[in-house]
Amino acid sequence: MDARTENALQRFVRKTRALFASEADPERRWTALSPAFAELLADPAVIEASRSWPDCMPSDGRAENLLFYVDPDYGFAINGLTKATDQSGAPRIHHHAHLYTLYGVLDGHERMERYERLDDGTRAGYAEIRRTVDSTVGPGEIDLVRPYEVHAEVTVGERTVAVIVRSEKAGSFNQGRFLPDEKRYYESLGPKQTPCEMLPARA
Ligand SMILES: [Fe+2]
Repeated sequence: MDARTENALQRFVRKTRALFASEADPERRWTALSPAFAELLADPAVIEASRSWPDCMPSDGRAENLLFYVDPDYGFAINGLTKATDQSGAPRIHHHAHLYTLYGVLDGHERMERYERLDDGTRAGYAEIRRTVDSTVGPGEIDLVRPYEVHAEVTVGERTVAVIVRSEKAGSFNQGRFLPDEKRYYESLGPKQTPCEMLPARA
């Protein structure tokens, strides 16, 4: 791909592949990826295209992600997540199992909650957690979610659009779920993956 004609997604994929080729350590990979990801989130063509991405529809207890790209060599996946204004209810507190995740807001605002686990995880179906972070995030802001980190993204009454980069395509393995009022923990499949184009094809 010629660097002068590539679009923002192709540029981000190229930079991510170059980083992953030169850095094998997951923690260093995922902390070093933010600048290239920030560039993707700031791209006017991506922001414009995201206005037409379909609304993700949770069903059968599963969230839905748009799937833009899966890397054939390194396995990382690029998702979109659109949430309509009227998604309400209790925050879905969860972790992403063994995945590293970069979550970047493209449009709108939402709340990011982080939790600390207080029990040792040895009792089946049981978890005690405590909220440690509750912050409002907006366009361009990036959150790195490490394996098994407990968190929730909560809508605040406006349409929000996010781009998510994961170390592996989600949806085929269980992720952790937390119901803090009942001190309950269970696992269920991650988001359904709906193939979608991030950017319109060039004329
Ligand atoms: Fe999440």
